[in-house]
Amino acid sequence: MANDTCLFPGQKLPEMPSPVKMSSNHDMDQVTDAQLASFADLIYGRTGIRVSPQKKMLLSNRLRRRLRETQIASFGDYYKHIVQLKPSDPEWDALVQEITTHETFLFRDESQWNWFRKNYLLSCASGKPPGGVKETLRVWSAACSTGDEPYTIACSIAASLSSGKKWNIRVLGTDIGLGAMQQCQQATFSERSMRLVPEDFKSRFFTKLPGSPLWKAKPILTEMISFRQHNLLNRLSEPPFDIVFLKNVLIYFDAASKKRVMEHVRAAVRPGGMLVTGAAEGVAEYLREFKCLQSWLHQRPG
Ligand SMILES: C[S@@+](CC[C@H](N)C(=O)[O-])C[C@H]1O[C@@H](n2cnc3c(N)ncnc32)[C@H](O)[C@@H]1O
Repeated sequence: MANDTCLFPGQKLPEMPSPVKMSSNHDMDQVTDAQLASFADLIYGRTGIRVSPQKKMLLSNRLRRRLRETQIASFGDYYKHIVQLKPSDPEWDALVQEITTHETFLFRDESQWNWFRKNYLLSCASGKPPGGVKETLRVWSAACSTGDEPYTIACSIAASLSSGKKWNIRVLGTDIGLGAMQQCQQATFSERSMRLVPEDFKSRFFTKLPGSPLWKAKPILTEMISFRQHNLLNRLSEPPFDIVFLKNVLIYFDAASKKRVMEHVRAAVRPGGMLVTGAAEGVAEYLREFKCLQSWLHQRPG
């Protein structure tokens, strides 16, 4: 699995204020305002996510778990520890895992999947592919968390392009989180994640694991998808895709990070290809040269 996460090139790390003296019971401790600012800059440089001052309690709770795991006594010492680690050190993955929000489920935002199945894939199947797709379909699910989005894409494709011509299909799921990527490979989903999956898709494309509350995706889906760890702040080294899904991730980014991510994402959509964004992604201003078909659907000029 590729690991292409890195800090901003040439990023200068801020000085950390002296560690506060910790009591033996960390549960009552919170980061100071100055520590919050230093950790926020660190997290921003790594992920593009802005931790606001209102998140002090949340950040403290998340960091406290890292203190326990690493057996480091204070927030200040943990900061000193992490800034001297290589960007590829597993502790960075553990910190990012704590900070990021992974909420996802299959067929989230139903209207978008209805469009994908009944409009986009139907046009592909009937030989009138939007923007000229030709029996090859390349899809990128960017920031896919634990894989529910790429598996939704694969389900929809398996149901729509199953008969007739042989299609060459690739669905790529990427996320900054190593833990998320490992979960994607397992291809198992809870009842909660599966709650919007149509009943016929459930029986055709998933198996209930005996003695477990989990559903496992069948090979017809898993064979279509590959996963890779990738930081959206960096360019993805892949030929452009027919359609890219970028949902429920940039809501946590500020304007400068959004701009940087959207430069990479625009380049990842082939001419005539589509970009599906979350309804609250706030990226319209970075997509001026794309045709806006819906507030969440954008087509790159062909
Ligand atoms: C709320 S989930 C969205 C999952 C899915 N797209 C959906 O809409 O259900 C947000 C995901 O964005 C990922 N993420 C946050 N910052 C990222 C970055 N800089 N590069 C890639 N992924 C990132 C997180 O790890 C998390 O899994």
